[in-house]
Amino acid sequence: MSNTYVITGCNRGLGLEFVRQLVARGEQVIGTARKLEDLRSHTESGVETHALDVSNIDSIERFSETMNGQAIDVLINNAGVGVHSKPFESLDFNEMEEFFSTNTLGALRVFRALLPSLRLGSLKKVVNLTSKMGSIADNSSGAAYSYRVSKAGLNMATRSLAIDYRAEGFICVVVHPGWVATDMGGAGAPVTPEESISGMLRVIDRLTPENSGEHIDFTGARVPW
Ligand SMILES: NC(=O)c1ccc[n+]([C@@H]2O[C@H](COP(=O)([O-])OP(=O)(O)OC[C@H]3O[C@@H](n4cnc5c(N)ncnc54)[C@H](OP(=O)(O)O)[C@@H]3O)[C@@H](O)[C@H]2O)c1
Repeated sequence: MSNTYVITGCNRGLGLEFVRQLVARGEQVIGTARKLEDLRSHTESGVETHALDVSNIDSIERFSETMNGQAIDVLINNAGVGVHSKPFESLDFNEMEEFFSTNTLGALRVFRALLPSLRLGSLKKVVNLTSKMGSIADNSSGAAYSYRVSKAGLNMATRSLAIDYRAEGFICVVVHPGWVATDMGGAGAPVTPEESISGMLRVIDRLTPENSGEHIDFTGARVPW
C-alpha cells in the first residue's frame, strides 16, 4: 500500500532525489518548490506539484488550503539554505535572519499549517532535514554562525514537537543527510544524492514511536546533540 509524502524544496538537490526514489517505489508524492516551473521541468508526470516558499506565510497558507481535507502520511521538511562560512566580525545579520526564517521557522510553519492533514494520515511522520553542523556537541571547527544556529534551533524545536505530539502518535525526528554532492554540499562531497536518499528512506521507513525526538544520520547512526 502506498503512502502520501509531502516534500519541500524539490526542484533540485536532495528534495528532487527524494521525489525520484519515492515515485520509483510507487508512493504518492506531493512535491513543492518556490520555483514551480523549475520543479515541473524536472519531475515526471504522476507527481503532484505545488508552489511553496517556506519563508513566506501567504505561500504556506495557500498551499495548506489546497491540502485541506487530504491525508498526509509523511512530511519531509527538506528546503534549506546554507552554508556560507564568514568570520564572526563580518557576519551578515540579515543573512542570519534569512537562514533562521527558512531553516528553522520554515519547517515549523509548514508543520503547523499541515497539522490537519497530518492528523488524517496513518503514519504521522515528520522528518526535518538538519545537519551535523547544527550539533553543539559536534562543533569543533566554529564559524558558519547563520547555518549552525538555524539548524540547532530546528533540532531543539523538533525535540519539543516530539514531546508535545507524542500522545497523538506523531513521530518527529531530525535527520542528517551526510555531506552530499548537491549545490549546497559542493561537487567534492563524499556522498551522492542517491546514497543519501536511499539511506534516509531506510531510516524513515523504520521509524517507530520510540525514535521520536532523535537526531539520526542517513546511515541510521545517532548524532550527538
Ligand atoms: N548537501 C549537504 O551536504 C547537506 C548536509 C547537511 C544538511 N543538508 C540539508 O539538506 C537539505 C537539502 O539540501 P541540498 O543539499 O539539497 O541543498 P540545495 O541543493 O541547495 O537545495 C536546496 C533546496 O531548498 C530550496 N529552498 C531554499 N529556500 C527555500 C524556500 N524559502 N522555500 C522553498 N524552498 C526553498 C531550494 O530551492 P531554490 O532552487 O528555489 O533555491 C532547493 O530546492 C537542506 O535542509 C540542507 O540544509 C544538506
